[in-house]
Amino acid sequence: MPRVYLAAYGCQMNVLDADRVRDLLATEGWETAGEPEDADLYLINTCSVREHAEQRASAVAGSLKRWKAQRPGRRIGVLGCMAQREQGELFGRLPHVDFLCGPENYPALPEMLGRLDDPAVTHLAALEQHGEVLEVEASRRGGAFQAFVAVSQGCDRTCTFCVVPKTRGLEKSRAPEAILAEVRQLAAAGVREVTFLGQTVNSYRWEGTDLGDLLRAAAGTEGIRRVRTITHHPAHMTERLISAFAEGGPICPSLPMPLQSGSDRVLAAMRRGYTVDRYRRLVDRLRERVEDLELTSDFIVGYPGESEEDFEATLREVRAVGFLNIFAFKYSPRPGTEAFPLVDDVPQADKERRHRLLLDAQAETSRARNQAQLGRALEILAEGPSKRDPSRLTGRDRSGRLVHFPGQAAQAGTFVQVRLERASGLSFSGRACIEES
Ligand code: SAH
Ligand code: F3S
Repeated sequence: MPRVYLAAYGCQMNVLDADRVRDLLATEGWETAGEPEDADLYLINTCSVREHAEQRASAVAGSLKRWKAQRPGRRIGVLGCMAQREQGELFGRLPHVDFLCGPENYPALPEMLGRLDDPAVTHLAALEQHGEVLEVEASRRGGAFQAFVAVSQGCDRTCTFCVVPKTRGLEKSRAPEAILAEVRQLAAAGVREVTFLGQTVNSYRWEGTDLGDLLRAAAGTEGIRRVRTITHHPAHMTERLISAFAEGGPICPSLPMPLQSGSDRVLAAMRRGYTVDRYRRLVDRLRERVEDLELTSDFIVGYPGESEEDFEATLREVRAVGFLNIFAFKYSPRPGTEAFPLVDDVPQADKERRHRLLLDAQAETSRARNQAQLGRALEILAEGPSKRDPSRLTGRDRSGRLVHFPGQAAQAGTFVQVRLERASGLSFSGRACIEES
């Protein structure tokens, strides 16, 4: 049997895409190799969101020249956003790469691999846009009790800094029947927590069906205890969807909803489609209706023209809104985006300082907010041994709070009631009280 080694970088959608490609190739007789040394085919699923992500993928691809030379017949494929963005120019930089496959072309992979059986064939590319969504049978992906499910692919928005609409194309929602059949399949295979993925997951639409309808249907699936969602865009949050979150139960009150900046001037320049005030009112409304809601956000520091005052406004919002956690990124100009021609005028040292100050502000806010949670007993899905201390388990509650507690590896995949005893900036530690399965 031929063997494939697959490395994935970037967002959750990329991790899911890699799993789906693995499943697809498995149906074509490919085995997964645990190590590159055992593989005949090396696939790199790439990310283009920031330059650094591309540099890492390029370094890996570059280092594979030796791997390829070690055994005749070995092949290298570059998948995903970097392949889509760079197109054939990538072969100029990395001539030992055999083929490229863009995010909308994975269904073409088996046919491409067939053509590459001919030793004379190299440098194939499948980079069609607005093409197909890969539909493959769900296997037990990743952690056997947790799985991602894509509800849509691509993005219709026009954030000036973002390359995703270019590389992943316009938004395509999947049919509800296909999504729910996948959820049922995963549940039957032992999955207890599904995470619905979309670049703007809350703009999901299929005829009369919205994300709330999907959430309710998934929540009602036998075996499913939790349904999560990534990523919400503030401008697409509707009262109808908020009602679904308000129902609670398996529908988790955990909302990744990026604000990106606390300055209206910068938000407008980024073409985000909301003001700080509108975001705050939305958060108030969500908290009013959804019990125990926790929000997370992405922020970009050093967008072209961002002044110290703009950045101060971002710091203020981070303190005022009270996120569970944030991701902070230094602006990275991406070719093909609307912002690319703008002068990247915030010096690197300022970007770094702002990045650090933002994370510090969040850590301080988290500590204070987390302190207020101590003494509560939460239902934690145990994910596995803690990285730092194998005699402890790591898991999350419905709202997404990260909790460490004493326990055995065999408990992974079970739900445990844990009382919170200590809080740090990023997580809690606690102790099991009553156990369920
Ligand atoms: N809607 C998507 C966004 C993908 S990009 C999702 O969250 O699933 C993820 C994050 O990367 C964005 O929210 C933004 O904060 C950051 N980002 C995107 N383009 C960037 C750029 N050019 N430079 C720095 N950060 C960027
Ligand atoms: Fe990118 Fe904005 Fe869409 S961040 S993925 S263009 S919502």
